[in-house]
Amino acid sequence: MWHGVIEAMAMLAAAALIWTLARFRTVPVSSGRKRAPQVPGLPLIGNTLGLARHGASFIHKCRLQYGDAFRLSLAGRNMTFLFHPEALRQFFAAPTDEIAFRPAVAHFTQRVFMLPSEQFFPKHTLMLSTLRKALVPAELAQHMQRLAVLISQRLEGKLYGTGKVGLLETIKNLVFEPTVKMLYGGAFVAAQDMVRLQQAFFDFEAGFELAASPVPHTLQRSFCSARTHLLTVFRESFTAGQLEGTVIGSLIRECDMDASLAPHVMLAVMWAALANTVPAAFWSVAFLLLPEHAQHRHRCLEALPAKPDIQAYIEVALDRDSHMARCVAEAVRLRAPGIDMRMAAAELALPCGPGRVVRVHKGELLAISPYESHRDERLFGPGAARFDPDRQALHGVDGVAGIGGLSGFAFGGGLYRCPGRFLAEAEVALIALLLLSRYRPELRPAESTPDSGEDVICHGASRAKPRLSAKQQEHRGMGRSISRPEQCKLLEIRGRSARQLCPRQASKAQ
Ligand code: HEM
Repeated sequence: MWHGVIEAMAMLAAAALIWTLARFRTVPVSSGRKRAPQVPGLPLIGNTLGLARHGASFIHKCRLQYGDAFRLSLAGRNMTFLFHPEALRQFFAAPTDEIAFRPAVAHFTQRVFMLPSEQFFPKHTLMLSTLRKALVPAELAQHMQRLAVLISQRLEGKLYGTGKVGLLETIKNLVFEPTVKMLYGGAFVAAQDMVRLQQAFFDFEAGFELAASPVPHTLQRSFCSARTHLLTVFRESFTAGQLEGTVIGSLIRECDMDASLAPHVMLAVMWAALANTVPAAFWSVAFLLLPEHAQHRHRCLEALPAKPDIQAYIEVALDRDSHMARCVAEAVRLRAPGIDMRMAAAELALPCGPGRVVRVHKGELLAISPYESHRDERLFGPGAARFDPDRQALHGVDGVAGIGGLSGFAFGGGLYRCPGRFLAEAEVALIALLLLSRYRPELRPAESTPDSGEDVICHGASRAKPRLSAKQQEHRGMGRSISRPEQCKLLEIRGRSARQLCPRQASKAQ
């Protein structure tokens, strides 16, 4: 039955795309003080399937056709996409009585996390500031200490004694449990079947985008059962008082959340923390493994002393001026989240270049695509689509909190910028440093291996020389952070013997 539904949806999507492309040429590009041109879509559902199924490539095609502003119809709702630097600035910096965040996301947070909006939004500002305070750079050293030991242990466990491992799987395993333990605490982790929890989380994440769309949840069995499991364990841990003294426990206490709200917030924070960090780590490592980026890899590793202990890794990972920090920012820039949304809280006239103003009606959605905009040479200079950690920082969109540098607006901006940014950047840098310095990764030509779902394969690993190779793979199901249209390169990783952690370091992680 499920195959039938999926096939029917795929045919509908294909029909929608063909119809849309066929009409692209006939629609005039608007100029002056007009609404953005409407991208043609199917009756009733409009452009919903085109966007849901083709994501970044659909947005790219629309931008090529329509330029700096165009309008999609998503099951009856208008969504205006903006690309001009002046419009991008307004998107993040306009006051909330002009461009609002909460009404734009309320429907999605309700639908996906089952967050009760009337309870959640009154606490939203306090929740953001509490999380920000807990995760500012000054607080990160203690979190990183724990993360470093846990990740290090898992890295050694994963790369020794295995026949085959996938790079994505390896990264998931390195990130999931340590991050959950750091945010939710040891008591929560000890009470869980972590294998089941991890599986449930990634099933939830894989179904996230479809779940946010109007496709009925009754057709999304895997997503719904994963969500039920996650909410159940969060509810149990809240009731059992397992979260005392943890980042999440403090968030729940300071925002005075009760049992009807806390499990949903725990789910939302878990998703926010992991859904972007996993692909960011994956791509940071993958970019640095390309042969043409070898000099960047060397420059990253030069920052480590000859015999780095865990403290040295933490210091380099926390150094926001290091070359590794630039490489992480560059990887995040190129693989940034698909769409950021707001709502017009008033009738708007948005600047869209000389002599052009785009009108948006009150109540309509606004969107930007960091993935597409980060390839805009007006913002990042020539060769904006290339991985180049030495490139100039973002220019043309100034004066907005959280926006700038190499990562542009990958972490959002303004009032609602990502509160976990500094943690994420340090954690990704740490993973890349550990993996690249303790092993000798190499790229190798494509290998045709059966599609086992594994992207990196470890051949006959001995303790002394683990050796990994990879087949071409499409990075699937990584939510909004990974661009689906592009494919990952092939990897081979040769290892060298890893250092064992001393017992003192290991005990700190418990
Ligand atoms: C590379 C990793 C990450 C990326 C690229 C990323 C990106 C983003 C973006 C784009 C937003 C929306 C901002 C906006 O709409 O303006 C966001 C929100 C958020 N992020 Fe992150 N994030 C990452 C890691 C993390 C981590 C590790 C945490 C840990 C707690 C976190 C917690 C959150 C939360 C709670 C929100 C929601 C804020 C709200 O409700 O307003 N993120 N993130």
